Amino acid sequence: MEYEEPKFFHVMKYGIEADRDVIDMVSGNPDWEPPTALREALAAYAELPPAEFQYPPSEGILDLREAIAARRGIDVDRIILTNGTGEANYLGMARALERGAGSEALLLDPVYPYYPGKTELLGGEPTLVPTERDGGLDVDAIREAASEETTLVVLNTPNNPTGAVYDIGKIREVVEIAAEVDALVLADEVYDRFDHTGSFESALSLGSDRVIVTSGFSKSMAITGFRVGYAILPDEHVDAAKTRHMLVNVAGSRPAQYAVSHALEATEPAYYAEARERLADRIDAFTEALDTAGAEYARPDGGFYVLARFDGFPGTMENVKRLIDEAGVAGMPGDTFGTARDDWIRFAMVTPRSLEAAERLVDYFSEE
Ligand SMILES: Cc1ncc(COP(=O)(O)O)c(C=O)c1O
Repeated sequence: MEYEEPKFFHVMKYGIEADRDVIDMVSGNPDWEPPTALREALAAYAELPPAEFQYPPSEGILDLREAIAARRGIDVDRIILTNGTGEANYLGMARALERGAGSEALLLDPVYPYYPGKTELLGGEPTLVPTERDGGLDVDAIREAASEETTLVVLNTPNNPTGAVYDIGKIREVVEIAAEVDALVLADEVYDRFDHTGSFESALSLGSDRVIVTSGFSKSMAITGFRVGYAILPDEHVDAAKTRHMLVNVAGSRPAQYAVSHALEATEPAYYAEARERLADRIDAFTEALDTAGAEYARPDGGFYVLARFDGFPGTMENVKRLIDEAGVAGMPGDTFGTARDDWIRFAMVTPRSLEAAERLVDYFSEE
């Protein structure tokens, strides 16, 4: 098997190597400060005795697991700390696929591309199921696609790339469909702190033994490099997931978990609100400029991203490179995210230069 370079890396590299100033709207790396308590805990960690530099418990340090359990209102034994939400997704998907209950994973189109990648890595078969025009859940389409072969349905809310925040009533219906065909539902909630509508409700609230919830601190604490996430599994699946986590990783990173644990305790809601408001302001400014540029878009209800479509300028890799070279703005081609939006371009709002990028797009498309 050859190393498959993610398209994200390919476009970022192209932008960095371009012969001009390029505004990076490709990556999902927050550009703002982490919580103050996180920096403080990290500094304090450096002074701890050598014993604190050794393996943490494989399932993660208890303080952080307990803090998550308290916030989520669940039993701490259901939580495994992972190397980011990415590993949590891998553990949850592996659990669904290794049960002998089928090999098909239903993924929603547009799709976060690591889901089909992981499904195939795990020997499963991804099936893309359409969503509503605005990216919302199309329960009928999921019902139609579900069969005896289906062992997993993966949901992501708030959604990357569409910005949709799923209605909890519809998630309940999806879980009922999953139960009928003996499938599990994995809900990736890594953007849960970036709900711009106030309507987000975690799939955990359904209290279902079919639901695996994954999340992490990469986005909420602006620390994608720390690699701290978690999986919350139904009781019967915890041991198998723990075993896989241990055999793959031994454990996660103790200093990273320690710093997140302190930050989770000490950080006021105002920190998260400020980050959310900053993003909402950028989204406002960016979408206003998209109006001027005559682009089609849906204002995201949550998350970091805006999907846009420019008339006569499909979001192919070739056009994305043209936009880098000729406008100085780097986005992601829509076909990275399945088939539903293959002529759209995804722009990440995690740059202080979002408005400047929007102005560049207005100039570019008014000259076209
Ligand atoms: C939908 C989704 N899930 C998971 C991840 C990975 O998160 P983490 O850094 O916590 O592994 C991302 C990162 O962009 C994402 O967009």
